[in-house]
Amino acid sequence: MKTLVTGGAGFVGSHLVEHLLAAGDEVTVLDDLSTGSIRNLLGLQSHPRLNIVFGSILRPRSVREAIAGCDRVFHLAAVVGVKLIVEQPLRGLRVNLHGTENVLDAAVGVGASVLLVSTSEIYGKNTADSLHEESDRILGSPLASRWTYAAAKGLDESFARAYVDEFGLDVSIVRLFNTVGPRQTGRYGMVVPNLVGQAVRGVPLTVFGDGTQSRCFSYVGDVVPAMVQLAEHEHESGQAFNLGGAHEVSIVDLAERIVARLDSQSAIEFIPYDVAYSPGFEDMRRRVPDNTKARLAVGYHPATSLNEIIDLVAAGIQKSGTRPDDLMSIVGATTTADL
Ligand SMILES: NC(=O)c1ccc[n+]([C@@H]2O[C@H](COP(=O)([O-])OP(=O)(O)OC[C@H]3O[C@@H](n4cnc5c(N)ncnc54)[C@H](O)[C@@H]3O)[C@@H](O)[C@H]2O)c1
Repeated sequence: MKTLVTGGAGFVGSHLVEHLLAAGDEVTVLDDLSTGSIRNLLGLQSHPRLNIVFGSILRPRSVREAIAGCDRVFHLAAVVGVKLIVEQPLRGLRVNLHGTENVLDAAVGVGASVLLVSTSEIYGKNTADSLHEESDRILGSPLASRWTYAAAKGLDESFARAYVDEFGLDVSIVRLFNTVGPRQTGRYGMVVPNLVGQAVRGVPLTVFGDGTQSRCFSYVGDVVPAMVQLAEHEHESGQAFNLGGAHEVSIVDLAERIVARLDSQSAIEFIPYDVAYSPGFEDMRRRVPDNTKARLAVGYHPATSLNEIIDLVAAGIQKSGTRPDDLMSIVGATTTADL
């Protein structure tokens, strides 16, 4: 199998590339290294079945060249992270909309199937006990840059459906919910690497708001095999599948657990959203996945516990060395959105 992974030098993408190479695929990575890093693929660069292409999904020609001869595409390249989205909404909209259209177009051109990586962010402010794939989306104003990621990723899914209907493209969509693990950077506001990094360094853990907002974290090592299984599973083209964690935890409980688990002396500090971002910034109160559809299709089971995840992330940080620029700079800020 010849596979293109867009965004393959990123956090999730690099774990996916490892998995595909181990399964025997020939893999091409297309990445502009804007938030990803070649360090994420350390040890693999000289792999005989890996071809790393530096380029942007915004350039149709780069995408067409990278996809040539491929049977399938895992499309992960995106502008990700609250900090980036709020600060550079135009870049986020362009990459996440036009870039995805280029990938879908190129896939039609060579007859490749597509696994489109979407996000639980598309559910927005829906705080249901269990979000299933048909749940309603509740988004804030389109004039608030904070919602542009959810809007663009939602439209990506609509684009994918339109390519199914009009070109017969073979597409599967996965919606990731706060996927975490080693190599995820805290630089763009991801909560787990930031809090674990702060605990490891012995500085205060910074929690936005009152910390009662909650999430269900899933381990990248559980999510990546399910992504591949779903790409290979027989189902009607254009279907979406949630891939999330099994246990809901508030962010203040997460911070306390990290401190205890890592035997850290760090205190916990609360930062108002207004201070970290801008007046009126909204975070989601909770986001709980219903994983039934992926479980029934491919036996998805997010088995790795939160304690194990904390240990794995801490080990990854200690191994690579905690560089200050890997952590979010504004007051060590942390958000719970998994943008
Ligand atoms: N990690 C999560 O919790 C999570 C949750 C929901 C959805 N997702 C989705 O998973 C995918 C991967 O996210 P991640 O967490 O690994 O983030 P990441 O930032 O580590 O990965 C994104 C990758 O895309 C690359 N990229 C960005 N713009 C590009 C462009 N124009 N051309 C080529 N490459 C480009 C980046 O350099 C990076 O390597 C994204 O599509 C994201 O929306 C992630």
